[in-house]
Amino acid sequence: MAWHDVTETSAVAEGQVLGVTIGEEMIALYRIEGVFYATSNICTHAFALMSDGYLEDDCIECPVHQALFHVPTGEARSRIAKRPLKTYPVKVENDRLMVEITETAKV
Ligand code: FES
Repeated sequence: MAWHDVTETSAVAEGQVLGVTIGEEMIALYRIEGVFYATSNICTHAFALMSDGYLEDDCIECPVHQALFHVPTGEARSRIAKRPLKTYPVKVENDRLMVEITETAKV
């Protein structure tokens, strides 16, 4: 596990989603009612960027086939996508957003 300094908190406006890349991970960052969240930026149905989707309340809608995911838990909430989005721990330090990524072993 490692915490990564990703960006300043002001880069993610309230009610917005921002796509970033941390190492080999494509991550979507969200700010919902002042709380930051991070999920995989890749839809579990097919290839689409959640950061191109539509954030409404605490759910993100995929821009391609409109699968709905609960941002805080990653839970899939529509019939289109069955698998949840991976979620990542987020913390704020000195106005910087930090995301914890599990390092995967290289073969
Ligand atoms: S690619 Fe996201 S719902 Fe199909």
